[in-house]
Amino acid sequence: VTVALALGALLAWLWTDAKVSTVGRAPFDRALAIPPLAEPTVEKDGTRVFTLRMQRGRTEFRDGVGTPTWGFNGSYLGPTLRAKRGEKVRVRVTNGLDEASTVHWHGMHLPARMDGGPHQMIAPGATWIPHWTVDQPAATLWYHPHPHGRTEDHVRRGLAGLFLLDDETSARLPLPKRYGVDDLPVIVQDVRFDGPRLAGDRGLMQNVGFLGDRTMVNGTLRPYRRIHDELIRLRLLNASTSRTYAFGFSDDRAFSLIGTDGGLLERPAVMDRVQLSPGERAEIVVRMTAGERVVLRSFPQKNYGDRWQQRFNGGDDSFDVLQLRADGRLRPSPDLPATLVPSELPDAEQAVRGRYFDLKRSGINDRPMKMERIDEVVTRGTTEVWTVRNTNGMPHNFHVHDVQFRVVEVNGKAPPPPLRGPKDTVFVPHGTTMKLALRFTGPADPDTPYMYHCHMLYHEDTGMMGQFVVVEKGQPAGTPRGHTGH
Ligand code: C2O
Ligand code: CU
Repeated sequence: VTVALALGALLAWLWTDAKVSTVGRAPFDRALAIPPLAEPTVEKDGTRVFTLRMQRGRTEFRDGVGTPTWGFNGSYLGPTLRAKRGEKVRVRVTNGLDEASTVHWHGMHLPARMDGGPHQMIAPGATWIPHWTVDQPAATLWYHPHPHGRTEDHVRRGLAGLFLLDDETSARLPLPKRYGVDDLPVIVQDVRFDGPRLAGDRGLMQNVGFLGDRTMVNGTLRPYRRIHDELIRLRLLNASTSRTYAFGFSDDRAFSLIGTDGGLLERPAVMDRVQLSPGERAEIVVRMTAGERVVLRSFPQKNYGDRWQQRFNGGDDSFDVLQLRADGRLRPSPDLPATLVPSELPDAEQAVRGRYFDLKRSGINDRPMKMERIDEVVTRGTTEVWTVRNTNGMPHNFHVHDVQFRVVEVNGKAPPPPLRGPKDTVFVPHGTTMKLALRFTGPADPDTPYMYHCHMLYHEDTGMMGQFVVVEKGQPAGTPRGHTGH
């Protein structure tokens, strides 16, 4: 057995080394697709009503090759939903697949039964109609299925889309904000093809989940985008199931980070790389020069750990992601403002209790996810500090539903700028301990859990997930109940 294991490990090593870098070779011969903005109907009381249908289809990623895929209202990915703070939202989600699924609003603060986690399954042919009032700052959120044990498969087949939030401050700030013009959605996924089909196998001893051998943006392979403005805002979403990226530009130019998962920063931060693990978002603004071409690239990751750790991200993890082609003349853009928004993040000093989460492959705190078990009970209106630790020997990340938290500490130190904004997902490589401050504002629902989990979806599917409920002070937790669509 030992010999077989050693041989397997060696083969896995060779296999990951065999991947050829795509950097510098991608021809960029396809215009980047921009997901359409959904057109809601607006009811008398102002409620915006969106319609999403999960369906099967065929997508031509490569000329003349039809690939079976899943999408929302189309064959791959979904429309961009958009709403303002204070608005009421209702979504009619119909499952046109032949297996049950859910739709989760990643990053959204909303009642647990509207959350679209594994307790809100939608049977084939059924329609689920969650509704809520948007009550959080402008942000780049997203939506994707969350059926327990099947999330990696459903997302990988194409079920994902953006949910953009606006507010009065974001409307007033002189930031690039024309969707699809100087404000571009950049949904990054890695894929591998198996003949005409999307591959889904995880490879030999690949305990990190599916890894592709090339990237797509918004479902476009080898994408380029023509640029007409001096300043371009990119809303980066890592919608890959397992892969982590470190984004930057081919000439190492600096850019301004203006937002993280849950919204804008207090002020822009200048940098030349931003690392995103699955589920994380970053909003960056980059300055273009007339006539130039520059490539958004993913670079090898310095903090990913040693050579063995790097293997969990596919060995050579460099990718040419998206080419920007500037027009010969560019429209002038206003300078970025020096300050953006006041922080609404919770304060660690206010915390009334701490909890501890050890990220283990066998389950968070060694407890594999159980639909019937509530792991943590949180009191509405309180702030807590959660300590998240990874000594597991492989990379993980950590996502909490319903809240945007503050990263208080990373290995005892103040967080770097990309971890200073509102976050719902953080990369926690091996050897990392993070302290997070979270505030739970409710409403209370002792019977309906929210999830926290590793957002490397194979890990989530295989048990690295737990459940918490928000209750009124002194109220006991109930028994998890489903709210199946009908
Ligand atoms: Cu993006 Cu629990 O999910
Ligand atoms: Cu993990």
